[in-house]
Amino acid sequence: MKQDAPAFHRNKEPMLKVLQAILPQLPLKVIEIASGSGQHGPYFCSHLSNLKWWPTDIYEGAINSINAWKQHHSLTTVQPACLLDVTSEQWMRGQTMIGLPDQADVILSMNMIHIASFAATKGLLAGAGQKLPVGGMLVLYGPFKQHDVAFAPSNKSFDESLKSRNPQWGIRQLEDVAQIASTHKLALDQTINLPSNNLAVVFKKES
Ligand SMILES: C[S@@+](CC[C@H](N)C(=O)[O-])C[C@H]1O[C@@H](n2cnc3c(N)ncnc32)[C@H](O)[C@@H]1O
Repeated sequence: MKQDAPAFHRNKEPMLKVLQAILPQLPLKVIEIASGSGQHGPYFCSHLSNLKWWPTDIYEGAINSINAWKQHHSLTTVQPACLLDVTSEQWMRGQTMIGLPDQADVILSMNMIHIASFAATKGLLAGAGQKLPVGGMLVLYGPFKQHDVAFAPSNKSFDESLKSRNPQWGIRQLEDVAQIASTHKLALDQTINLPSNNLAVVFKKES
């Protein structure tokens, strides 16, 4: 059942450092969108005891892997995985969903928005705008295009390979994502450069 994502082993430490730097040391509810194998939640929670973690994904196979990793680590702070499609009306309207808190302090999504249709980016932002309280954070991780930053050759070829696998996939323009986020009262707060031309992008919910 347990899937092993090679990217997890490359990005877990840089992203842990980001979370340690940006999150307050208070009890925090975290909803993870598109948890995939489900390895990040137990890793982050084992280093950050103030987090209570709700992993989610759109695919049953991922749900099984997330729950298998949860069982393997036996961490009470990691909750059972919830089946969630961020393009669903229920998520985008911020409606109550069985297995998820009505509000979260942090919503984290790693490596989803370029490996899903742009509707998933829009849905993620809409739901995050509903679920986060003022001051709450949406944290994205992955590669981005930026107007004032050269597109790294490795990201360019990754972008081409994504689009050849599915024309709806591809590395997103950060300014486009930020513009849509702003319509949901999510203001771009900071970007943090990470290894292999990836970014952590932090949005904060405004009043
Ligand atoms: C490349 S994987 C990333 C998994 C994990 N976050 C990681 O970094 O290892 C992309 C994930 O996005 C999920 N996904 C794609 N479309 C989605 C949607 N509409 N709603 C929720 N999850 C979605 C897929 O099921 C997959 O697990």
